[in-house]
Amino acid sequence: MSRKVILDVDTGTDDAVAIMFAALHPELDLIGVTTVNGNVPVENTTDNTLRVLDWIGRSDIPVFEGLARPIARLGFPTARGDSDGGPHGKALPIPEPRSVRQDTGAVEFLVETLRSATEQITLVPVGPLSNIATALAIDPALTEAVDEVVIMGGGHAVTNMTASAEFNIWADPEAANVVLSAGFGRLTLVPLDATYQALVTRDTCARLEESGTPAGIAASRFISRRIDAYDGTVNAADAAPVHDVVCAAYLVRPEVITTRSLHVTVETAGPLTIGRTVMDTRLNSTQKPNAEVAFGADPQLLADLLLDVFTRPPSTTAASVSPPPE
Ligand code: RIB
Ligand code: CA
Repeated sequence: MSRKVILDVDTGTDDAVAIMFAALHPELDLIGVTTVNGNVPVENTTDNTLRVLDWIGRSDIPVFEGLARPIARLGFPTARGDSDGGPHGKALPIPEPRSVRQDTGAVEFLVETLRSATEQITLVPVGPLSNIATALAIDPALTEAVDEVVIMGGGHAVTNMTASAEFNIWADPEAANVVLSAGFGRLTLVPLDATYQALVTRDTCARLEESGTPAGIAASRFISRRIDAYDGTVNAADAAPVHDVVCAAYLVRPEVITTRSLHVTVETAGPLTIGRTVMDTRLNSTQKPNAEVAFGADPQLLADLLLDVFTRPPSTTAASVSPPPE
């Protein structure tokens, strides 16, 4: 039986790769995608999400638009405002969407779906945690319907937004604390420490492109853009992290990451440290772990998974329901 998954995204090039992976992997049943403000404003993350699903023939997966702002810091920037030279850009380089988002909002969808679930659902938030925290504020018992929450966010030795913080957590630190302390049965955190170890190379992009499949072509385009943008900032030539897809890959091959059980909380007060994931790595810590934190990731296994899922002819993927557009 395939695993039921909801992705919460701020699409973004790496979110886009994660969406394609979850939508096309035969062991995953992507029952909905919720969007949130993040890499770009929420109307653009929604538009990008619809583009991706249309492009790979999975317009049947419903998209629900979520929050445009963090839950507490209303004065915070409403999006990272990625520039045309950045790893995302405002609009993904594939055709405009043909399908439209659902009328129901993301938070309403999360609450209704989790309240009425007859099977356990896996939540995979790979953007700021505003939607998930708001749903939990409405009904804290939603955790009972979730077998695992797999979050891309945070950083211990590696950060990217400030000297202390990773973007997804920094963008809504109060929401992150709500989710980390909600009491999920299993919470896996995939921080930058892990995603920077699973760099995807130009060679893999070339192989994806050569396959000629819609997903292969799009993944190559998105990851190549990231490699251009990360040029000189990672410890490898012609490679870049594709953070969010590490979470999707973990769902089907848990050994793609290596984890430690730790207590994690988020700093919300210090002016220099807002959004820092404070991971209690002390060997003599007495704090009860609330997360399985990834500190390692396997680049070869990730590349193999991307090639396996994205280069399959569309007809053999989970449910190719319409041909890709021109
Ligand atoms: O810090 C990396 C994360 O921030 C990724 O999820 C990326 O898509 C952005 O949301
Ligand atoms: Ca993201």
